[in-house]
Amino acid sequence: ALLPRAARALEGACVLLTAGPTREPLDPVRFLSNRSSGQMGFALAAALRELGASVVMIAGPTALPTPPSVERIDVETALEMYLAVMTRVADCDVFVATAAVADYRPVNVAEHKIKKHADEFTLHLVRNPDILGEVAALTASPFTVGFAAETDHVIDYARAKLQHKQLNMIAANQVGGAQGGFECTDNALTVIWDDGQCELPMQPKSQLARQLAQCIAERYQIYHA
Ligand code: CTP
Ligand code: CA
Repeated sequence: ALLPRAARALEGACVLLTAGPTREPLDPVRFLSNRSSGQMGFALAAALRELGASVVMIAGPTALPTPPSVERIDVETALEMYLAVMTRVADCDVFVATAAVADYRPVNVAEHKIKKHADEFTLHLVRNPDILGEVAALTASPFTVGFAAETDHVIDYARAKLQHKQLNMIAANQVGGAQGGFECTDNALTVIWDDGQCELPMQPKSQLARQLAQCIAERYQIYHA
């Protein structure tokens, strides 16, 4: 459901968002992936839509239903996500990267199931494109928002990513512990921009997503003005 018109801070804006994990195949039956459930990204897509934005979501494999009135494009690998983003980015005002994109993919994808032989097995991996970094580096880049999931030095690493990737905002969260993040229904975020930051306290991801959407809308309006 959309909010009343007066509260729709993103009315008329187009948001492109990535969500979920990616899967990098090794052979027809195996892949490398990560613990992202896609919950935060899907909740954020819904919350941005509630603020009146038109939302296109490029989603990796998840078990989640598509939020109401969100256009969803399903992808599997980081390269597919990259292509889906790059073909649509020119039409968007805001780009939000919530996806947990695999940093590396296997160099070769075996045509047949890999059989076990030796006691050791080495995987040869190659870097995937940095989707968020490439979007932010475009000459006519949209307002870009990234995420930083970190196990330690959360704020320092997130601020470094904000500067290094030249983002407009980054949402940082602690992962890999009892603090929330991946595989949790609750989470907390620190939202960081060039000259400020704000704390969004531990709460269910659906509520947290609404607060983050408000925060994105506020900064976008200042940037856009
Ligand atoms: N991201 C992306 N494409 C990639 C890797 C990351 O778009 N190939 C985006 C994520 O969606 C997230 C942000 O970049 O919004 C930061 O991801 P993260 O994994 O925390 O940072 P990296 O830049 O990949 O650095 P590292 O994993 O080494 O910390
Ligand atoms: Ca990474």
